[in-house]
Amino acid sequence: MTEQRPALRVLSPGEINVPATVAVLNDAFRRHAFLGTDRTSEDTIGEELHASSRLVQAFEGNDLVGTGAVTPALDEDLDAAKFPGIDLSHALYFGMAAVRRDRMGRGLGAQILAASERVARQRGDTHIILMTVREMGNVAYYHRFAYETVSVHELPAGYWGLTIPTHEHAMAKIIIPHPDNQGAQGHV
Ligand SMILES: CC(C)(COP(=O)(O)OP(=O)(O)OC[C@H]1O[C@@H](n2cnc3c(N)ncnc32)[C@H](O)[C@@H]1OP(=O)(O)O)[C@@H](O)C(=O)NCCC(=O)NCCS
Repeated sequence: MTEQRPALRVLSPGEINVPATVAVLNDAFRRHAFLGTDRTSEDTIGEELHASSRLVQAFEGNDLVGTGAVTPALDEDLDAAKFPGIDLSHALYFGMAAVRRDRMGRGLGAQILAASERVARQRGDTHIILMTVREMGNVAYYHRFAYETVSVHELPAGYWGLTIPTHEHAMAKIIIPHPDNQGAQGHV
C-alpha cells in the first residue's frame, strides 16, 4: 500500500476538530513519562487558544496526525523578560506541537514548524518564539531548525503537572522576510 502524503492545513480555533486535536496532543505527550497528567482536555484546550491563534494541522485523509499552534506573542501571557532583545509586537508564538506517536520521526513535526514559520513570514514578524522544557528532550530538536535559547528558568516539581524539577527554555528564531513581503502585516 502506498503511504498517503499528509496535507497541512492552517485553521482558526473555531474550525478545528476539538476531540481529535485533544487526542493527538495527549497521545504525543504520553511519550514523556514524567508528565503526570493528560496534556489537555476538551474542557481546557480553549484556554490555550485565542481568536488570533491559528492551528497548523497535518492530516492523512480525514485523520489528524499532527498539530501545532501559532499566536501573535502579545496575545499570549508571556513574560517579556524571558525574551530579551525581542520585540514581541513582531513575534509569533509557536506552541502545542504534537505528532501522534505512531507517526513520529517521519518529518511531520518539521513540516508543521516550517508551515508555522511561513505564517510568521507572511505576517511580517521578525521572530518566531517558543517555550520548551529541557527534560522533554526538545531543545536539541529546535536547535536543528536554527532556534536559539534566549533564557532558561528552573521550574519546581509540580509545575505544569510535571513530577520532576525542570528547566524551561525560551527559544527564538529570526524570520528572514520574503523579499516581496518586507514589513507586511497581513493576516493568515
Ligand atoms: C517534538 C515532535 C512534535 C517532533 O515531531 P516529529 O514528527 O517526530 O519530528 P520530525 O520527524 O519532524 O523530526 C525532524 C528531525 O528531528 C529529529 N528529532 C526528532 N526528535 C528529536 C529530539 N528530541 N532531539 C533531536 N532531534 C530530534 C528527527 O530525527 C528528524 O531528523 P532528520 O530530519 O535528520 O530525519 C514530536 O516528537 C512530539 O509530538 N513530541 C511529544 C510532544 C512534545 O514534546 N511537543 C513539543 C513540546 S515543546
